[in-house]
Amino acid sequence: MPRRARLSGGKNTHGAHPMAMPLAVLVSGGGSNLQSILDKIDAGCIDAEVRVVVSNKADAYGLERAKKRGIPPWCRPHTEFASRLAFDQEMVRVIGEHGITAGTGAVVLAGFMRMLTPEFLRAFPAAVVNIHPALLPSFPGTHGAADAAKYGVRLAGCSVHFVDEIMDHGPVIIQAAVPALPGEGGDALAARILKLEHSIYPQAVAWLAAGRLAIEGRHVRIAGAAPASCGDAALPYLASPGLEQEFLPVP
Ligand code: GRF
Repeated sequence: MPRRARLSGGKNTHGAHPMAMPLAVLVSGGGSNLQSILDKIDAGCIDAEVRVVVSNKADAYGLERAKKRGIPPWCRPHTEFASRLAFDQEMVRVIGEHGITAGTGAVVLAGFMRMLTPEFLRAFPAAVVNIHPALLPSFPGTHGAADAAKYGVRLAGCSVHFVDEIMDHGPVIIQAAVPALPGEGGDALAARILKLEHSIYPQAVAWLAAGRLAIEGRHVRIAGAAPASCGDAALPYLASPGLEQEFLPVP
């Protein structure tokens, strides 16, 4: 039986559509992926509502982005907790208070730099997604884009995937490839990849919120998705499955 990753909506608090999927977004840093999702929600392209932005880092700029948008931020340094499990249990509690529980809503990791415990993942079955700046299964870990540049790959990219107990490992939803240019350093490559992240992550969240994703073992079936979309010389990329019109990157 495929596990359908669409769950029911919930109460709306910020004037969102009554069936909008409630989301918790977890950040540890700048939160540009959070912003890209918020922008597409505001543009009416994603039927979801970010109910809470959670961080383990007090200086994460993602928390400021949440405040500016009127979304409650929640932050506790993980070092204040006796164990990884204790921190995760507290996050599950806080996220639950905002209406995201097993079967209702989803958890979006957007640059959240901590492994989640099995207990956390069990609290949100088939409902935790992540973005990684490499073409998985190549270059998992903290420095995906830099590791790819160092290795000398000719194609690099990013992946959105469901999260399981192994780092950067769960079933892949969408990937986008970009050429890695000769002599290009890790930072420059990461910046070009990040631009594509801002297209594929909102696209994946839109599919999730619309109930169009079904997990079948290692595979994710996406109802009605096009096989691929590609850019041009100004912004070369290949995305698979294809990005829908409203999620195409702008050069
Ligand atoms: C992104 O490159 C993402 O792929 C990785 O962490 C970075 C987060 O960037 N997981 P931002 O905080 O969304 O700007």
